[in-house]
Amino acid sequence: MPLRSLLFVPGDSERKQAKAAGVGADALILDLEDSVEASRLPVAREMVREYLAAHADEAAQLWVRINPLDSGLALDDLAAVVRAAPAGILLPKVSGAADIVLLDRYLSALEARDGLTPGAIGIVPVATETPQAMFALGEYKGCSPRLRGLTWGAEDLAAAVGAASNKQEDGEYDFTYRMARSLCLLGAHAAGVAAIDTIWTNFRDPEGLSRDAARARRAGFSGKIAIHPDQVSLINQAFTPDADEIARAQRIVTAFEQSPGVGTLQLDGEMLDRPHLKQAQRILANVPAAH
Ligand code: COA
Ligand code: MG
Repeated sequence: MPLRSLLFVPGDSERKQAKAAGVGADALILDLEDSVEASRLPVAREMVREYLAAHADEAAQLWVRINPLDSGLALDDLAAVVRAAPAGILLPKVSGAADIVLLDRYLSALEARDGLTPGAIGIVPVATETPQAMFALGEYKGCSPRLRGLTWGAEDLAAAVGAASNKQEDGEYDFTYRMARSLCLLGAHAAGVAAIDTIWTNFRDPEGLSRDAARARRAGFSGKIAIHPDQVSLINQAFTPDADEIARAQRIVTAFEQSPGVGTLQLDGEMLDRPHLKQAQRILANVPAAH
């Protein structure tokens, strides 16, 4: 099952960490980067390490966002948290696949230091936060077996190019950021990993979030990042096939099973061929156990 909801939790907030465990996110991203004030980073590293150790048995995967590789902070972040065996590292402000290769090596060294299973820790880059990264979205295939997905962000990219805003007058993302989203989607699928949609910043706008998440899922994203507990169940819902979808997918698969050797057939007056079968099989593969 792909990760549907990934909730950011500031690394130095005891209250938010206490709350995070119970909200039903598929993954938590304990943050050591932008949500932590610089003077709090040493404390945050310890808090994140302790949280990982104390919550290892819970259902949510525990990820950590470290500081960028060129910040001078990333190695200390990794040295502090890897020993508590996070599920993965979210790497911000990457320039391209070479950064994943480098992080893979750091993780291998620290896994050996700490006696952890080699290669167990995953990597997801935030793959659109620098202008350079935008030209590298096609190069992630095969860069590391640790790669689990690609995600994108519009805030840091806007800051990096000196944009006054990343939005148009009507509130939609400007072309550059819609392009970032599309290239992230295509780059993830080209690499055979999950495409994870970016945050919806207005956490008091459930309708806007649900619309945005539904749009992302239709486009081919399999999950989305949350910044507030209230967003988690809406995201989980948006990325879970509903009963109608499951029933239709089942009918498509059955129709092909009942017509062996037939490449194209009709259902309810619509033509179906291999891409429809693939899509139906993908929906059924991701049906949660509760259904
Ligand atoms: N994870 C866990 N718990 C959170 C949370 C989060 N991301 N955001 C809020 N909460 C908790 C609050 O602590 C509060 O619980 P409490 O009453 O027990 O303290 C409850 O949820 C309701 O929060 P609310 O009052 O609505 O919001 P807030 O003003 O406390 O926080 C933000 C608003 C935006 C500062 C907060 O949601 C946040 O820190 N989000 C993550 C930011 C982040 O990580 N950014 C980096 C990536 S872009
Ligand atoms: Mg940022």
